[in-house]
Amino acid sequence: MATTHAMSTSDHPAENLGAQFLAVRRMTEELCADISAEDAMLQSMPDASPVKWHLAHTTWFFETFLLTPNLPGYRSPNPAFRDLFNSYYNAVGAQPQRDRRGLFSRPSLEQVRDYRTHVDRDMGKLLESPEDRLRDAILLGIHHEQQHQELIVTDFKHALWSSPLRPAWRRALKQPSAVSHPPSAKELGWIEFKQKEAMVGYAGNGFCFDNELPRHRVALEPFAVASRLVTNGEYLAFIEDGGYRRPELWLSDAWKIVQAEQWSAPLYWERNRTGFEGEWSRYSVHGFRAIADDTATPVTHVSYYEADAYARWAGFRLPTEAEWELAAHLQASFSGDGEGTFLDSATLEPQPTKGPQFFGECWQWTESAYLPYPGYQPMAGAFGEYNGKFMINQMVLRGASCATPKSHARASYRNFFPPASRWQYSGIRLAR
Ligand SMILES: [Fe+2]
Repeated sequence: MATTHAMSTSDHPAENLGAQFLAVRRMTEELCADISAEDAMLQSMPDASPVKWHLAHTTWFFETFLLTPNLPGYRSPNPAFRDLFNSYYNAVGAQPQRDRRGLFSRPSLEQVRDYRTHVDRDMGKLLESPEDRLRDAILLGIHHEQQHQELIVTDFKHALWSSPLRPAWRRALKQPSAVSHPPSAKELGWIEFKQKEAMVGYAGNGFCFDNELPRHRVALEPFAVASRLVTNGEYLAFIEDGGYRRPELWLSDAWKIVQAEQWSAPLYWERNRTGFEGEWSRYSVHGFRAIADDTATPVTHVSYYEADAYARWAGFRLPTEAEWELAAHLQASFSGDGEGTFLDSATLEPQPTKGPQFFGECWQWTESAYLPYPGYQPMAGAFGEYNGKFMINQMVLRGASCATPKSHARASYRNFFPPASRWQYSGIRLAR
C-alpha cells in the first residue's frame, strides 16, 4: 500500500506518544509471533512483501527519519540497512528492487528482531521528552506501522495460499456455525441523501495523512448508498448468472484481464476442491470454508473491475468517494461499539456483522480515481513521497477492513490500489 503521511493539526491533549509507540510495536510483534523464519521470507508476487521485510522496514522508518537525524550518537546495528529496507524514498537513497525482497535470507529473522529491539530502545530515549517538532514524524511512523500490519496479514495470506499445500495460518477461533443454519443477511436497503453538497476531507485535531487534505466542498446530486455490503451469496448469483462470461458487463481493461487471467470468481475462491465437491469454497487464514456456510458474509478479494461489473449487473453503480464519506459521517455508528471486525479482534476474516458495515470487514471500492484534492500539498522533504507520487492509475477505497487496526480507521481515510488488485480485503457497497 502506498499510503500515508501525516499532517497533523497540532493540538494534542493528553497524547502519550511513548505509549502509542510501544503499543503499535507490540501489536506487530504479537501479529507475527507464530510466523517461522521460513514463512517470514516468502514473497509470492511483486506486490506483496515478506513478513520479515515488513518487520525490518517499519523499524527502518523510525531509524531513518527519527533516530539518525535526531538522537545524538545514534548508531545503526548495520548501516547497510539504510538502503536495504528503503521501500521507495528516492530522497533517502537507493533501494533494492521490490520484487526481490524474498531473496533476503540475510539478515536472519533473529537479526531483524534484534534490529527492532535496538531501535525500540533508542526510540525510548527520544520519547522520554519528545521535542514538539518531532511529533508529526513520530505519529507518521506509528500510523505507517499500522498500515504495514494490515499488509502483513494480506501479504502473508497470499504467500501461504500460493504454496501447494495451501496451509492455514491460524486455527479457527470458533467452529463454523452449523452448516444447516448459516446466518442470513439482512435485506438490502438504501440510505437516501438529498444534500446538494458535502464537505470532504479530514476535520479534527488528530492525525491524518496529507492526502485527506485540504477539506473542501463537493457538489452532489441526490443519491443513495446501500445499507450494507454485497455478500458472498449475492456475488455467487452474479457468477451463476454468467457474470464472468458476459463482456457487456465489463470495462475494456477489465475484460482483457478476465480473459488473460481466466478469472471466474474472487481471488481465493475454488470450485470442486477436495472435500468441497460440487460447490464453491474459499481460502481463509483459517483454511478452506464452503461459500454455502458464508453466504451472509461480505464478499472480499474482488478487484475494482469485479466490483464495477457486479454493480452494473445488479443495475446500480459504486459510490464516489465524496458520497461514501458523507454517508459514513451521517450513518455509520462508528463510535467504538465494536460492531465491525478489525485487526484487533484477531479474527482476520470478514464476518456477517449487523449494522451498516462502513468500517470493518472490508475496504469498499469507490468509482473515484485517486487524485489530489484541490489545493493538495504533499508533506515537505522525503515524506512528500509518501502519498503524492502514487496519484496515478489507482482507485480509492474507503472504510477499513478486518485487517485494519481499529484506531487506524476514519471516515476521511483514502486507501488506494490499482484497479486489478485483489489480495487486499476489498469488497463492494452499491450506490444509485
Ligand atoms: Fe512503508
